[in-house]
Amino acid sequence: MKRTTLATWVLGLVSLIGTSANAVDPASVVRGGRLYDNWSVELKARPPNHPNPVFKTQQVRVDAPDTWRCVACHGWDYQGNNGVSGVRGRQKADPAALVAVLKDANHGYEELLDDGDRLDLANFIASGQTDMQRLVEAARRVKPAQASANKVFATVCSVCHGLDGDRLRQIAPLGDSARQRPFEVLHVALNGHPGGNMPALRTLGEDTVVRMLAYLQTLPSFNLAASIANGGRLYDDWQTHIAGQRQALPHPAYPPKAYYANTASETWRCKECHGWDYKGNQGQYAKGEHATGIKGLRAMAGADPERIMAVLRSRSHLYGAVLKYRDLQDLANFVSQGQIDMDTVIDPRTGLARGDASQGAAHYRSMCAGCHGLEGHFVAKRHTGRVSRTDPWHSLHNMLNGHPDDTMPALRELDPKVINDILAHIQTLKERP
Ligand code: HEC
Ligand code: HEC
Ligand code: HEC
Ligand code: HEC
Repeated sequence: MKRTTLATWVLGLVSLIGTSANAVDPASVVRGGRLYDNWSVELKARPPNHPNPVFKTQQVRVDAPDTWRCVACHGWDYQGNNGVSGVRGRQKADPAALVAVLKDANHGYEELLDDGDRLDLANFIASGQTDMQRLVEAARRVKPAQASANKVFATVCSVCHGLDGDRLRQIAPLGDSARQRPFEVLHVALNGHPGGNMPALRTLGEDTVVRMLAYLQTLPSFNLAASIANGGRLYDDWQTHIAGQRQALPHPAYPPKAYYANTASETWRCKECHGWDYKGNQGQYAKGEHATGIKGLRAMAGADPERIMAVLRSRSHLYGAVLKYRDLQDLANFVSQGQIDMDTVIDPRTGLARGDASQGAAHYRSMCAGCHGLEGHFVAKRHTGRVSRTDPWHSLHNMLNGHPDDTMPALRELDPKVINDILAHIQTLKERP
């Protein structure tokens, strides 16, 4: 009995000395973690444009530069990914041996990384890996009351992420990523974000990180109704809505002979190619000055938003370079769930709203006249009544989703009858002589 205790004690002491002798600089470990996540962002270097020849799988589509990220092949849980084995077995390995691995044939990073980078990566592999599954399970055991009282997030993270974790438009709300991709979120919380000045929590201990994950998992998801309406405003005119730079060259998919081609930035508006009625060459904009001959989006109603985001990022559309993640997501939600069949509101032959104008008048006076004036003469560049007669599909889209970069309310969640009646009413508003 005594001997075992003593042996355990001696072993414990040896391993304690062992660890302290091997103690690595935590700054090197977390930097290694960030390089593992995305070395080119961390190094502010350009990743190769061609796919990594070692990246073999055809099952998943990964953009060429991303095939050079360690995580693409070895995973957020370090257990391997896309047909490659993990690096878990190399925990506690000799960093010098790992540096040698990073110079082998599988890892053609000769000029891309320097020896300092390789050493940080080796330190991360040798002493920075964590059992992700165990942390996720520990987070599940954190009591709800404890999880929701996380003051670290409120004081350390919220300056950038907002108290609800959804302020940054370039990433998904943290609540969603923590629920859907907990390993990735843990890796980022432990090591920080490549190229950023986000603090790494590693030295605060696993408990802090586990509680952080549990807390992030309680944060709200994006609001679908708000996302759809925002997508509708982006569909109308995303350049105005995000107050970004206007495009100087016409959209490559815009037919050279179409009418609007002389205003380059206009050719980038979704509505210009797909119509205010979303029906493209099958709808109201099949002819006339806005005709492009391009198909509509009605077939995409109900489609998986991820699929629509892929279309928007693809070569046919090129929006990945000019819009942030959340903007693309809002557009996709709009296309998937925000389109309505406008024929149910507007008679396609006469262009007249099917609603009851006398019923709509009261709604108009209470909800719209404050900005537009009783007779529709204010705020809008063009008279609201005139637009609603010549281009009722435009008016209806704005009524449902609001106006880009403006506080005009989106009516899409109100009773459709109210919307029909207001549109019928504004069609009766007369311009002053
Ligand atoms: C395109 C895929 C790919 C990428 C990217 C990649 N590796 Fe590897 N890695 C491999 C393959 C293949 C092996 C050999 C193991 C196997 O056959 O599955 C390997 C092995 C390793 C091993 C040895 C694992 C063991 O147990 O023998 C380490 C350590 C390693 N990689 C680290 C890294 C690091 C760090 C990065 C980023 C700088 C990286 N890898 C990027 C494909 C990749
Ligand atoms: C100085 C600003 C800043 C602070 C402080 C900050 N972050 Fe971040 N964080 C960012 C930025 C910017 C990104 C997005 C990076 C990008 O563009 O890919 C990000 C990304 C993330 C991501 C990745 C999400 C994803 O979907 O890719 C996680 C997780 C995260 N932060 C968690 C935290 C936590 C937890 C804290 C507090 C310990 C924190 N952040 C503090 C700026 C910050
Ligand atoms: C310059 C013209 C143009 C603009 C602007 C444009 N698109 Fe497209 N869009 C097209 C063309 C052309 C196709 C058909 C491509 C194909 O079938 O390969 C298409 C197809 C689509 C599809 C797939 C439809 C289907 O049934 O397969 C979606 C979804 C889509 N566009 C959404 C949008 C959104 C959202 C915007 C605004 C952010 C937008 N588009 C802006 C030209 C345009
Ligand atoms: C907070 C002020 C505000 C309120 C309230 C408001 N709007 Fe607007 N609306 C605007 C602004 C600003 C525009 C954009 C004008 C422009 O740029 O030409 C606009 C544009 C429109 C347009 C399309 C633009 C056009 O050229 O005709 C329609 C249709 C419209 N509003 C209808 C309504 C209706 C119906 C209501 C009531 C349900 C309403 N608005 C309430 C501010 C408002």
